Amino acid sequence: MPITPTTNIWHNGTLIPWEKAQIHVMSHVVHYGSSVFEGIRCYGQPQGAAIFRLPEHMQRLLDSARIYRMPLPYSLDQLCSAVVELTEANKVAPCYLRPIAFRGYGEAGVNPKNSPVEVYIANFPWGKYVSGEQGADVCISSWNRLAPNTMPGLAKAGANYMNSQLIRMEAEVNGYAEGIALDTNGYLAEGSGENLFLVRNGVLYTPPLANSVLSGITRDSILTLARHLGIPVVEQGLPREMIYIADEVFFVGTAAEVTPIRSVDRILIGDGSMGPVTKQLSDEFFGIANGLKPDRFGWLTPVNVNAEQPVGA
Ligand SMILES: Cc1ncc(COP(=O)(O)O)c(C=O)c1O
Repeated sequence: MPITPTTNIWHNGTLIPWEKAQIHVMSHVVHYGSSVFEGIRCYGQPQGAAIFRLPEHMQRLLDSARIYRMPLPYSLDQLCSAVVELTEANKVAPCYLRPIAFRGYGEAGVNPKNSPVEVYIANFPWGKYVSGEQGADVCISSWNRLAPNTMPGLAKAGANYMNSQLIRMEAEVNGYAEGIALDTNGYLAEGSGENLFLVRNGVLYTPPLANSVLSGITRDSILTLARHLGIPVVEQGLPREMIYIADEVFFVGTAAEVTPIRSVDRILIGDGSMGPVTKQLSDEFFGIANGLKPDRFGWLTPVNVNAEQPVGA
C-alpha cells in the first residue's frame, strides 16, 4: 500500500515538514538494523477520533529500547503527548501512527554506543492490512520465528522484520494472504505481523510469550475482552496440527485488527466462515475502538481531530 504523506513529522521534540524527515545513508540503522518502533491506530469516533492503547504502545517502545540498551531521552508521558500533538497537527483520522527510535549517523562499526539516538513519529492514513473479505487463506511458513537467545522477540525491533519479510514474501509467492511461523521447536507462534488465536470447543487458545511471539497489544486486548465475556482462555504451547482441527482461527494486530482465517494450507477452518467466538470478540473490539461501545477498560486517548474531514487522506 503506498504511503500517503501528511504535513508534519515529529523529530526529537519538534514538528518538521514531512519531506525534511531524512537520514544519512551512513546512519547506523541503515547498516545494522538498529531501530525499535511501534504501530498504533487512531480510530474515527462519533465525536472526533481516539488513539487505541497509546500508553501501552509507548511503554513497549521504551521496553524495546531498554532491551537494546538504547537510551530514549523521553518519558512515557512525553512520548504520548508527542503522538497526540502530531495527530492533532496533521488532522488525519483515522490513521496509522509510526513512532520509531534508531541509531543515527555517528560511528562506523557494529557497536551502536556512539551513534546518536533519533526519535521520529509519523502518521498517515492506512486501510485493511491482511486481504480476504471472507477470511484470509494462509499457510504455515517454512521459516521459523526467532529462536530464543538469538533476537529478543519481545522487542519490536526493525531487524526482526527481516524474518517477517521472508514469511510474508514466501506466502505471497505461493498464493496465500499471509504465513504463520512456527517457533524453533515446532509450536505455533505467529504471523509475520500478527498474533494468532484458535477456538476449539468454545475455548480460546493463543501461544504464550515463550513461543517466540511479540507481546501484542491487540493480543492483550482480545484476552481481556474474552475474559470479560466469560470465554475460557488458554495460553499454552500449541502443536501445528491443532490449527487444522480448530473450529475458528483468527489473526490480531494493530494493522490486521481482527482478521478471520478461512483456510490454512488449503484446509478449510470450520465451515470456512467467521465463527461465533471470532465474531463476538471482533464486534466488541471494533465497538470499543470505533467509540460505539463504552470504553470500559480505558483504552482510548481522545484527540482533537475531526475524523470526517481528514486533511491529506
Ligand atoms: C510480529 C508481530 N506480532 C504481533 C503483532 C501484533 O502486535 P500489536 O497488536 O501490538 O500490533 C505485530 C504488530 O505489531 C507484529 O509485528
